[in-house]
Amino acid sequence: MTERVIVAALKVAPVRTTEAQDFATLRRVETTAVTLDKASEKDLDIVRMINSSLKNEKHTGFIDEDDMQEVYRWGTIFIIKVYGKNAGTISFRPDRGDDNTALLRNLAILPRYQGRGVGTAAVNLIHDTVKELGFEKAKGRIRPENDEVLHIYKKKGFEVVGKDNCFGDGVERLIIEKRLR
Ligand SMILES: CC(C)(COP(=O)(O)OP(=O)(O)OC[C@H]1O[C@@H](n2cnc3c(N)ncnc32)[C@H](O)[C@@H]1OP(=O)(O)O)[C@@H](O)C(=O)NCCC(=O)NCCS
Repeated sequence: MTERVIVAALKVAPVRTTEAQDFATLRRVETTAVTLDKASEKDLDIVRMINSSLKNEKHTGFIDEDDMQEVYRWGTIFIIKVYGKNAGTISFRPDRGDDNTALLRNLAILPRYQGRGVGTAAVNLIHDTVKELGFEKAKGRIRPENDEVLHIYKKKGFEVVGKDNCFGDGVERLIIEKRLR
């Protein structure tokens, strides 16, 4: 399963570069300007930087280094690029005990890129990627107070199906899911 995921993810998420634009003037980024680049080992420092810079009360990022290495090993971590520049992260891995479910994690957009459709585009892209890979279901966990990210996933057809405290930090997360086929 892991090998299939990695090979296919490479195929569906090629590095594309687009003409750089003056980002500051854009109210909304064109969907085609947003790409997901599979992070290689040497890119993990960028992933660490983005995740740690965004840790806050709504977003915990990777729990620790072991957590990030596990997602890297068993799944795929993407760097979200906007016109080829690092703008955020998103990842997936097969859910523990259920290889047919893709667990989506680590959606994080750097502040200067927020509020312009980048998170929405990234969720659309990872949704289409895991669907193309043959997963039957996509699943995520979000903090109940994170209305913005819930809105993004709901736009793509995800529904809240329950709550749990799977990260063991005493904070309940909403479980969101979407059947892909
Ligand atoms: C949450 C986050 C991922 C959103 O990414 P983004 O690129 O800013 O999001 P977008 O611009 O694509 O979309 C934001 C949407 O939320 C909506 N929104 C904004 N505030 C909202 C609120 N309080 N309640 C509901 N929806 C809200 C916007 O209207 C927009 O939806 P629309 O395009 O349908 O109008 C980003 O702000 C971020 O990285 N935050 C810090 C880390 C984090 O919280 N990650 C989530 C971990 S699960």
